[in-house]
Order: sequence, then structure tokens, then C-alpha cells
Amino acid sequence: MLGRLNHVAIAVKDIAAATRLYRETLGAAVSAPQDLPEHGVRVVFVTLPNTKIEFLEPLGVASPIAKFLEKNPDGGMHHLCYEVGDIRAARDALIAGGLRILGDGEPKIGAHGKPVLFLHPKDCLGTLTELEEV
Ligand code: CO
Repeated sequence: MLGRLNHVAIAVKDIAAATRLYRETLGAAVSAPQDLPEHGVRVVFVTLPNTKIEFLEPLGVASPIAKFLEKNPDGGMHHLCYEVGDIRAARDALIAGGLRILGDGEPKIGAHGKPVLFLHPKDCLGTLTELEEV
């Protein structure tokens, strides 16, 4: 079911500072910021030879990462994202296997314009896990 690691996401309080760290100090290619109001986040992507790193900054008052940053004020790893070929088939197989899907269970359009879903972290080794259809 699982394909490539699409990205590792890091929640940050200051996406401009995170961009400077990766662009200027670590010498990586960093995208322009993109607002995703439907997900309550502003994102940038760092493109590495074998995967991407996603920075998430809270956007709006009800951002789902605000609480995470209260617990992790320096920022921290927020989720992993794996690629799948057919996200609805993957979802149905995972539900049949006893895993919980966050939200209403319907894929939403993510930062790459592709359908995404999140699996409950308590069912995935304490790690929030995103699936993206490619
Ligand atoms: Co993600």
C-alpha cells in the first residue's frame, strides 16, 4: 500500500525564521509560503534529493497545530506523509484493519493539489500519519 515518503512535516512558530535556517544556513531549496485556510496552516516546502520537508505555521485562530506548538514551543516533528496510489482504497483497507481516519474520513485537497487523509496517531505508533494520492 505505502509508496514513497512524500514529506516530513515540522510545526514552527515562525515560518520565515525556519525558511532562513534551511535556505541560508543549511543551503536547501525552499518554496514560497502558501496559505491553506481549509487546513488552518501556512506551509513551505524544502525540496531535498530524496524527499521534502514541510514547515507548518498556524493560520487563523482555530489552527489544528496551535495546541501542538503550545506543547512544543521550539517546534517539532508533526507528521509523516506517505504516497499511495488510490487513497479511497487505502482508507477502506485501513478502516477494515481497525485504524481510525481523522475528520469525516473523506480525502481533502492538500498542499500539492492532491487528495490527502490523516490517520489517528494513537493507531500509528504515536505518529500522525498522512496519506497523499499520487
Ligand atoms: Co503534510
